[in-house]
Amino acid sequence: MNKINIIKNKFIYDLSNVFSLSEIISIWNNWVIVEILKMKRIDLIKNPNLLICSSKLQQISDLIKHLKLNKPVQYFFNYTYFKSFLIKINKNVLIPRIETEELVDLICSYKFNNSKISGIDIGTGSGCISIALSKLLNVQMHAVDYDNKIINVAKKNSLNHNTDIEFYLFNLLNSEKFDLLPKVDFIVSNPPYVTIDEVDKNSNIFFEPKESIFVEKNNPLIFYKKIINMGKYILKNNGAYFFEINPKFHDELIDYLNNFSFKKIETHKDFFGKKRFIVVN
Ligand SMILES: C[S@@+](CC[C@H](N)C(=O)[O-])C[C@H]1O[C@@H](n2cnc3c(N)ncnc32)[C@H](O)[C@@H]1O
Repeated sequence: MNKINIIKNKFIYDLSNVFSLSEIISIWNNWVIVEILKMKRIDLIKNPNLLICSSKLQQISDLIKHLKLNKPVQYFFNYTYFKSFLIKINKNVLIPRIETEELVDLICSYKFNNSKISGIDIGTGSGCISIALSKLLNVQMHAVDYDNKIINVAKKNSLNHNTDIEFYLFNLLNSEKFDLLPKVDFIVSNPPYVTIDEVDKNSNIFFEPKESIFVEKNNPLIFYKKIINMGKYILKNNGAYFFEINPKFHDELIDYLNNFSFKKIETHKDFFGKKRFIVVN
């Protein structure tokens, strides 16, 4: 048995070469206290001399080893939270990001014309967007990804949350068989949009599947172009696109969208003030 405040100091000390103090404290608060110790921060503030049993100590020590390898904390637990839904993940799927929760919020606040809405999530990954929308908006969601290993993770998450999502194995870059897909009221996508030169070579992003993240520098909008084309076949009248985008390519994407006769093209900033979302109809 060890006192919690001693363990916390050791946790900070051991990780100080890998992370900033604020990052370590955030991992301590959000993952060690909540997910390993299954406690609330207030319990520990009230009781700084609390004793921790050896099995919990072992887990914390394993977590330190994992983090020292610079691996994302979520891959230690193999789950994360998205709009408060527990989403299981593994090395085949992108770790859902906080910005993407704002994409879901945008769709939840959008004024659709009819009450029975259906949507398709292109590049579903863990299924986080589709699951959150199914639960929060009660829409019929369809979800697409290009690899069965990925679809299987999303299906498990869908099952765990008791959602009725239809999944499709579909490679957006090499198929135009849009008749395999349903007609929907909206398309949502957070496609790969990062170019490799934007990322620090020591970033832990490289533990995530590169096909989920990176696009070629010479064609960074490839996914958006394919999705706009797909929309011609699968979007119902007055249908909408909801995109998460790389702020760096915002202007280029707006220029591209201006080639079509859309009624409205709206940019929305994320929590950090970056031009992160585009809604088109
Ligand atoms: C940035 S991730 C988004 C994952 C998830 N929607 C989220 O927001 O966390 C992009 C997704 O696009 C998928 N993807 C990449 N290339 C694809 C392709 N050619 N066809 C269909 N999906 C693709 C990846 O597998 C990945 O799941």
